[in-house]
Amino acid sequence: MVSYVVTTAHQAGYSQSEQARELAVVLRAQYVSRDDRSIADMVKEYEVDGVLVVSRQRTSLFVSGQEFFFHPGMAALRIKAILAGKTDQMVKAMGLQEGDRILDCTLGLASDAIVAAHVTGDHGTVVGLEVVPAIAALVRVGMTGARYKNARLAVAIRRIQVIEADYRDYLRRLPDKSFDVVYFDPMFRSGVQRSSNMGPMRVLADPSPLSTDALAEADRVATKAVVVKERRGSPEFARLGLSEQGGGRQASVAYGILRTEGGSP
Ligand SMILES: C[S@@+](CC[C@H](N)C(=O)[O-])C[C@H]1O[C@@H](n2cnc3c(N)ncnc32)[C@H](O)[C@@H]1O
Repeated sequence: MVSYVVTTAHQAGYSQSEQARELAVVLRAQYVSRDDRSIADMVKEYEVDGVLVVSRQRTSLFVSGQEFFFHPGMAALRIKAILAGKTDQMVKAMGLQEGDRILDCTLGLASDAIVAAHVTGDHGTVVGLEVVPAIAALVRVGMTGARYKNARLAVAIRRIQVIEADYRDYLRRLPDKSFDVVYFDPMFRSGVQRSSNMGPMRVLADPSPLSTDALAEADRVATKAVVVKERRGSPEFARLGLSEQGGGRQASVAYGILRTEGGSP
C-alpha cells in the first residue's frame, strides 16, 4: 500500500487547508502544513511514498515522480462517438439501455462509469466501487470540484455514486437481482503493467485478480449480465469460464460476458 501525507499547494487559502485537513481525516493520513517545502523534501522528511496536495485547481497525489488526479480520460470522446451513432464496445457488451442500474465494481478513474452513466441517463443508476481509499477520494473530490464545458460529460459525471468498498464484501451484502449489469475491469494480469514505465494508477491500484467466487456473487446480483474487461487473448477469460467477446477486431481489449437468466443475448 502506498503511504502519503496530506498538504496544500504553496500559497493555499483557508478553504484548501480545511479541505486538506478533512481529506486527511477521511484517508486516515497525516495532515502537514506545506511550509514552502518541495514534494521530494516532504517524501524524505516523513518517510512516505507520496504527498497528496490540495490546490485551488485540483487535488492530486504525487507518487513515484508522477501526478495522479481525476480526469475523465477517454470518456468525453467516447460520449461524442456514441452521440454520432458509433458503437461503444463496452456499451454493446453490457447491452446497456436507458434506465439500467449498473454496478461498476472496479471504478478506477471512472471513464467506463461515466460512459455508462451517459447511456443509462437520468433514470439510470451507476454505482462505482473502489477499494483504494486514495483513488476513491481523489475521484470523488475531482468529480465534485471539476467544471466541464461539455454539458453531457458534466451531467454523466454527476450521476455517478462513488463508494469506497471492496467488491468482494459489497457484492455479498447486496440482495439478489439488485442491479441490471455488474461490471469488472480488473488491473490486467500481464504485459504493460509489469513494465518499468508504470503509470501512477499502476502504483496505486489494487492488482488482485477477479475470483470465481466474486463472479458467482455478481451473477446473483445482476438481472441482465456480468461483464469482465480484459486484454484480448488473456488466459483470464478461460480461468473465469467466460468466452471472449466484443472489443472490436483492432482492439487490445475484449469483454467476457455472462448473461444471467432472462438477460437478452
Ligand atoms: C483497471 S482499473 C479500472 C479502470 C476503470 N474501468 C476506468 O474506466 O477508469 C481497476 C480499478 O479497480 C480497483 N479494484 C481492484 N480490486 C478491487 C476490489 N476488490 N474492490 C474494488 N475496487 C477494486 C483498483 O484499485 C483500480 O482502481
